[in-house]
Amino acid sequence: MAAESYQQSSATVQLEAGKNFIHTDVLPKPEDTILDLGCGTGELSAYLAELVGPREGNSNQFEGMGSEKFDIIFSNFVLHWIPEKSEAFRNMLNSLKPGGKVAIQYVDALPPLLVSSLEILNPETHEQLKNKLHLVKRDDVDLICTTAGFTVVRSYYARKTVNVYPSVESLLQWLVSTSQGVFDLQLVTQERIKLLLQKFGNPPFDFTANAFDCKLVAVKPKSSQTL
Ligand SMILES: C[S@@+](CC[C@H](N)C(=O)[O-])C[C@H]1O[C@@H](n2cnc3c(N)ncnc32)[C@H](O)[C@@H]1O
Repeated sequence: MAAESYQQSSATVQLEAGKNFIHTDVLPKPEDTILDLGCGTGELSAYLAELVGPREGNSNQFEGMGSEKFDIIFSNFVLHWIPEKSEAFRNMLNSLKPGGKVAIQYVDALPPLLVSSLEILNPETHEQLKNKLHLVKRDDVDLICTTAGFTVVRSYYARKTVNVYPSVESLLQWLVSTSQGVFDLQLVTQERIKLLLQKFGNPPFDFTANAFDCKLVAVKPKSSQTL
């Protein structure tokens, strides 16, 4: 099979993980009004729309914030970019109907093989990326969520299943898009690629080892007072 035909980008990895999460945990009903918080390119929003019909709001601007109009707030790989998580959870609570739920997929640590590849290929930007990401451990996210007024229904780790890069190019492409522009291709010299191959061997690069996603489903109590 030609490399391109099964090449993965950050977008496809996240899209597949997002669809999987929708069918295991989000479980939207046709009549639900859903906000896709931090929708990015909107492909998952479109997928959700196919499942639930016309929807209000697929905005990463929190359109409808505080309106108590959503049945579900879905968010796929966004929470770890948000510095003020308490505020975000309060805003989400205030935007949901009583009895509505949040379904959030995020990471609370970078996979070790990703960290190694960043150190080899882009040591200059590694610190910047760490500062841009706001990784908070799952237990603490649960606490922030509960403190905001939610009742946690499910919170668990799931092993990443889709995280294999068939070529150096596909890995670089993924690092660029997954780092929100911090990873700098100009810094990737042939020397560094050689070091990468020494460490990981020839592609495909399998980054699934010790790589976990966090999944959180929490409901707004029916009698909740919005803050
Ligand atoms: C990794 S992308 C995920 C996109 C999409 N949810 C998906 O699964 O394809 C992260 C997204 O989070 C958004 N984002 C970052 N910080 C945010 C914030 N404070 N509030 C809302 N969205 C944010 C970015 O604009 C970007 O679209």
